[in-house]
Amino acid sequence: MRKTLTWLAVMLLPLVVCGGIYLLGREVTVRNREWTTQMQYSPAYLSQTTNPVLPNHMTGQMPIAGTIARGYQPFHYGASENEAARAGRELKNPFAATVENLARGQYVFANYCAVCHGASGGGDGAIIPKYPNPPSYKTETSKNVPDGAMFHAITLGRKDMPAHAAQVGVDDRWKVILYIRQLQGK
Ligand code: HEC
Repeated sequence: MRKTLTWLAVMLLPLVVCGGIYLLGREVTVRNREWTTQMQYSPAYLSQTTNPVLPNHMTGQMPIAGTIARGYQPFHYGASENEAARAGRELKNPFAATVENLARGQYVFANYCAVCHGASGGGDGAIIPKYPNPPSYKTETSKNVPDGAMFHAITLGRKDMPAHAAQVGVDDRWKVILYIRQLQGK
């Protein structure tokens, strides 16, 4: 029994010594040896890396001129009053005043507009008079502002009215106009 153990120890000794030397000498800042690299690295180019094949050496190519992202609706109007008037002539509200659309418009109005324009559109929101009064929606002037011009005001802003394109989506802008019309009794 003792003899067997001695032999076992003698035979394992080289392994222990070699392993120890290997571990002590191992450079820990570099990667280990890799045996199965087949699935470790993808042959496809990553989108943000340089590319020897495609134009401009870019893997992610620029969109073709005139490309529009899915769902994005371009707005071809500048910020001037003439442009607002042109929007008023050219743009029509694509939504009908259904119960759902009005409910959505009311929701948007309560969240983004009422603070200035007032819950009933009287231009007397909670922030007034710290902020300059918006005109009441109930005036004849306001009732005669075409939908497209309102859309222009919401999208790009108008004087003291800040642009709301970033916080209110295109569809919601039209639906809130439906709701404003309802407030105006139209
Ligand atoms: C920070 C305050 C503020 C907020 C918030 C605000 N407005 Fe205004 N809004 C104004 C002011 C001030 C005017 C008047 C601008 C001017 O002098 O032409 C105005 C004008 C308007 C007009 C033109 C009114 C008219 O009779 O021609 C419309 C339409 C309008 N706002 C819609 C909205 C909608 C819709 C929202 C919410 C998405 C909104 N506003 C949020 C302050 C605000």
